[in-house]
Amino acid sequence: MKKCIVLKGDIVWTERPERFEYQENGYLVLEGDKIQGVCSEAPKGEYETYDFSGSLIVPGLTDLHMHAPQHQFAGLYMDEELLEWLEKHTFPYESRFSDIDYALRAYRAFISDLKRSATTRAAVFATIHKDATLLLMKLMEESGLSGFVGKVSMDRNSPHFLAEETDRAITEEESFLSESYHFMNVRPIITPRFVPSCSDALLGELGRMARERNLPVQSHLDENVSEIEWVKELCPWSSSYADAYDHFGLLGPTPTIMAHVVWPGDDEIELLAERGVYVAHSPSSNTNLSSGIAPIRKMMECGIRIGLATDIAGGSTLSMLRIITDAVQVSKIRCRYIDQAEKPLRFSEAFYLASKGGGSFFGRVGSFEPGYDGDILVFDDGAFPSILRSELSVPERLEMLSYRHPDAPLAAKFVKGRRIV
Ligand code: GUN
Ligand code: FE
Repeated sequence: MKKCIVLKGDIVWTERPERFEYQENGYLVLEGDKIQGVCSEAPKGEYETYDFSGSLIVPGLTDLHMHAPQHQFAGLYMDEELLEWLEKHTFPYESRFSDIDYALRAYRAFISDLKRSATTRAAVFATIHKDATLLLMKLMEESGLSGFVGKVSMDRNSPHFLAEETDRAITEEESFLSESYHFMNVRPIITPRFVPSCSDALLGELGRMARERNLPVQSHLDENVSEIEWVKELCPWSSSYADAYDHFGLLGPTPTIMAHVVWPGDDEIELLAERGVYVAHSPSSNTNLSSGIAPIRKMMECGIRIGLATDIAGGSTLSMLRIITDAVQVSKIRCRYIDQAEKPLRFSEAFYLASKGGGSFFGRVGSFEPGYDGDILVFDDGAFPSILRSELSVPERLEMLSYRHPDAPLAAKFVKGRRIV
């Protein structure tokens, strides 16, 4: 028989972007690794009960785009734009991961921080180094977190200390894919860094591997204006940056995440919607690297799937609560200064993107509807006294926590029904 558990507390989630569902003093019921539902009375039967009365119980959040090797320098080098930042800081730093002892220390620290964060699922870039990437997958699997990890592919316009020969990039990717299949909760994902660092030959081979092995893909798209100009020079045959990926079969049919998408043309928006591509919106990173403000409202209205992401270390925090409020804030600036037709995101909409929106890349993840995976966070928001607290609704308490205490420690964290914090 499957183990049944019940969590008692103030439960809040989003099934649709427009509004929160909630149950004060409610019971969240799980059977095995799946949510059974939320009820107002204690369910009858044999249950292991966790009493979190007075605490907030919310779905686990998804970080749809991040760079594990960059975690150690998060919060530094924020005075540059993308291309200089990559060349001066990021590439030299990532080259350290050829040293497996260094990788072990850095990835241990990363996983320890990620485990204590509000993230239960993540789509992660590693580096070009296969052994260090497999080590990251092992540490992530052991932590109980779940997600996709990619060995980064790059064979052009890269410094000699962080570049692969094309043939070797292909064989290393093949062996990475073969050697990473035994993990259960951490899966491989095809990861061309971005068009400027991958030759046509490599992009074509990665598209073939995605198709033949039915694997997801992640990359960067339309982040920075100089980057976009560069792609035009590198791929004069393409009608757009997105078209360059599409040409090599890297915008589907397998599930695909494109990070940033700050400057999409109308034709690109149409293509991304048609291909069912996920956009990983990284408001913190887009501000730090002066990339711009992505037209999230417009892309949502055009039917593009969207999740939120830290893009650490373009973003300087692992806190998805902070990313939620950043997404709301930059959408207000976009509406004020760029396009008044694009209404700002409401808090419930941003929370939806970080939970059910991005979570759907992983299956039925990020909501408390029956059949969803048991990804659950518990926050003791009573630890931050406010004389107003008794007047607030459960969603208002979540909003206040997100703005004021985005790094609040977790009272508990469950991934697929298993308690890991
Ligand atoms: N584009 C290519 N590589 C990177 C990276 O590491 N970070 C960000 N933000 N953009 C990129
Ligand atoms: Fe990135």
